[in-house]
Amino acid sequence: TQHEAIDLKRYIRNIPDFPKPGILFYDISTLMREPDAWQIAMGRLARQIAAWEPDMLAAVESRGFLTAAPLADRLGCGMLMLRKPGKLPGATISHTYDLEYGSDTLQIQADAVKPGQRVVVMDDLLATGGTLSASVTLLQKAGANVVGASVLVELTGLGGRAKVNAPVKTLLSYDE
Ligand code: PRP
Ligand code: MG
Repeated sequence: TQHEAIDLKRYIRNIPDFPKPGILFYDISTLMREPDAWQIAMGRLARQIAAWEPDMLAAVESRGFLTAAPLADRLGCGMLMLRKPGKLPGATISHTYDLEYGSDTLQIQADAVKPGQRVVVMDDLLATGGTLSASVTLLQKAGANVVGASVLVELTGLGGRAKVNAPVKTLLSYDE
């Protein structure tokens, strides 16, 4: 079909020097604002993720929320949030991970997954892999069987995929 031929990279805008000088930002806003292209992107992600037969999608705050919610709806599975500290009510489990400068923390509700549930982690972008690998570790601490990780955009040059302790699938790869 015509859908199969559409190159979604045409809809991702690159913005140099954001959020810092020297960083090239891959902006999915321009994909999201085109309803046909966004629908095609969600359809392609759905096909990739369905193969893992997840019970739950885990959405990484904040841009992971954007893909996890429509995909949980399409696939008929549940979803949960991995959030920045202090946002989730009730008992939580935390994981702190190192950044280039400093550290960051993600939290999950302690009862978010049942032991052994098949979980796929969702984020918009894989760069250094710090966020995705921390997300997988946190989910495993909480008892999940992390069967995969899914991102819209992968920056392959940074080697982030190797840090992630789960199979990774990407829609769009960039090697610059
Ligand atoms: C961005 C992006 C990924 C992460 C990728 O999130 O949405 O989550 O960075 O980078 P990494 O592979 O080097 O960890 P950001 O921290 O900017 O926050 P946001 O999603 O709340 O905008
Ligand atoms: Mg993010």
